[in-house]
Amino acid sequence: MTTTEVPQETSTSYPMTRECPYRPAAELGRLQAEEPITRARIWDGSTPWLLTRYADVRSVLADPRFSSDPYRDGYPTVAASRKMRQDRQRPSFIFMDDPDHARLRKMLIGEFTVRRIETLRPLIEQTVIELLDAMEAGPRETGSRLAGTSMSTDLVQAFALPLPSLVICHLLGVPYSDHAFFQEQSHALLDLTSGEDTVFGALDALQGYLDDLAETRRRNPADDLISRLGARVDAGELEPSEVSAMAFLLLVAGHETTANMIGLGTLTLLHHPDQAALVRDGDTATVRSAVEELLRVLTVTHLGRRRVALTDVEVDGTLIRAGEGVILAAEAANRDPEKYSDPDDLDVTRGTNQHVAFGFGIHQCLGQPLARIELQIAYPALLRRFPDLRVTVPDSEIRFRDQMAVYGVHELPVAF
Ligand code: HEM
Repeated sequence: MTTTEVPQETSTSYPMTRECPYRPAAELGRLQAEEPITRARIWDGSTPWLLTRYADVRSVLADPRFSSDPYRDGYPTVAASRKMRQDRQRPSFIFMDDPDHARLRKMLIGEFTVRRIETLRPLIEQTVIELLDAMEAGPRETGSRLAGTSMSTDLVQAFALPLPSLVICHLLGVPYSDHAFFQEQSHALLDLTSGEDTVFGALDALQGYLDDLAETRRRNPADDLISRLGARVDAGELEPSEVSAMAFLLLVAGHETTANMIGLGTLTLLHHPDQAALVRDGDTATVRSAVEELLRVLTVTHLGRRRVALTDVEVDGTLIRAGEGVILAAEAANRDPEKYSDPDDLDVTRGTNQHVAFGFGIHQCLGQPLARIELQIAYPALLRRFPDLRVTVPDSEIRFRDQMAVYGVHELPVAF
């Protein structure tokens, strides 16, 4: 088999600046067509591989010869702030390889099966109703729009963030009354521009909080996930520090991602009224399909999956050597024209589309049944309650989350 040598010098850098807030950078599309496996310079000057094609991204994600362990030399870290975090944080299983990863993930699989998550449906539906009631009762547009006296509500604070946050708190057994505290820490950790003091402060505060909570629940168990993990500590199956590391991962992964899918997804639908109408009036199958389509086109975990090769591996004719880092640009893979027809079009009737927005392989998102059900309930409920829902500012005034580990919008002023 002949393999291609790609020089380590490169004029490509990653991540790239978007030209349009609703699409990945156009350069990713060019690379996908012309240099699907190339080198890209990242923040620390290193030049890991950048893979943009759907088939290559899936094949590497499924390949045990690539590691998710950021402590290995060559692992392409997302940003300086993430490197600081890694150096201080107790590792969670998203950053481990099997068998360690499998041992820990297995303890949570039963909590996130589709059937188990279905039991949360009434709670999620009720939470959505209450949040929409509060929105309706709260400050809203007054006076004439023509007179320019409109008042708006921030959809992120009123709906997109509290919904997944309330649900994950319920599941874990984290008091929602502490949400301002942990959302602030989580925001600081996901902000790629955070400095060392901010990262360490947020990390220590959140880790300390979850250590205390895990210990409290171990002594006085309740009907929640952290208590069930506490029982495993008593059974000698888990270390106490592993419980709080898992709770940390679930708390952070469990609300920012879904929240940004709700915020950015709603904004996207409002820009496509025909598609929004299909979601508002559609049957269950249409709503399910719409959620998958929004996951595909938005790919809010927008900075690529990161891996490092454990051994020499040949990917589609290119030799990736042991110790070399790899960035799998899922945001590009999800728009690969070889996989999707008219990939840049939002088509909520596209059906099952096998996107990689939840990753693929052993690290494929554990919380996806929960994320899906929340989104399937949230979008149509919001659009049905407020048929006149509209954004009150132009796109140029919306702050998109380019500098955050999870893409989306910081605020979304709406009227209804
Ligand atoms: C729309 C919402 C979500 C998106 C787009 C998303 C995306 C992802 C992606 C791309 C990965 C793979 C990481 C990798 O391969 O390196 C992942 C893993 C993970 N996600 Fe999610 N996620 C979402 C919601 C959630 C929720 C609600 C939870 C928990 C309640 C969650 C928990 C996890 C966990 C624990 C992992 C690690 C799995 C492993 O390493 O085995 N996620 N997620």
